[in-house]
Amino acid sequence: MPGAGLFISLEGIDGAGKSTQARLLAQALQGRGFEVVQTREPGGAAGAEEIRRLLVEGPPDRWSPETEILLFTAARRDHLERMIRPALDAGKVVITDRFADSTRVYQGATRGDLRGLVDDIHARVIGTEPDLTLILDMNPDAALERGLARGSGEDRFEDFGLPFQQKLRAGFLDLAKADPGRCVLIDASRAEGEIAADILATAIARLS
Ligand code: TMP
Repeated sequence: MPGAGLFISLEGIDGAGKSTQARLLAQALQGRGFEVVQTREPGGAAGAEEIRRLLVEGPPDRWSPETEILLFTAARRDHLERMIRPALDAGKVVITDRFADSTRVYQGATRGDLRGLVDDIHARVIGTEPDLTLILDMNPDAALERGLARGSGEDRFEDFGLPFQQKLRAGFLDLAKADPGRCVLIDASRAEGEIAADILATAIARLS
């Protein structure tokens, strides 16, 4: 029933189709009477969007993973304070394209083992998990091609290359296994409409 706030995140490697699926899910839930806020990370609030530019543009070695953890967390705290919390408190459904799992995988599990640092900082300044996380899984070759083809100018992480994307995929699969109550793995290699129907059914089940 419309009325209860629900926090949904979409996660996955670059080019897996999260943004499209976030939009389709938001439209479908709005069509069923839910009040929906669609947002993204890094970003989602004015200050966080400014931090986003520092993170997604420029050469891959622009920041160390440790610096990235601090910048992503600063953006997330701003997003949480100004956008996510108020919307959940007002009973809305919040759909975010990425949240803390991206930091766990991109910064915590790809360039050395920094998962402990990620978890400590998350516990101290974020301390919130989505009610439902949809992990869009697909072959990194195809996803990377799609991500780079967009030519968005936001390719700093795509520019780390295929082995990086393969590590990311493995990291997301590990997360799905470690937290099956929250995370649902979605096969994102299928047709767009099929994926959307799967995601909608999963979200509706969680809402009812
Ligand atoms: P996007 O392309 O999905 O909008 O995300 C921007 C990039 O930032 C993407 O390559 C993933 C990366 N990222 C991290 O490395 N850590 C994070 O915590 C988040 C939210 C994103």
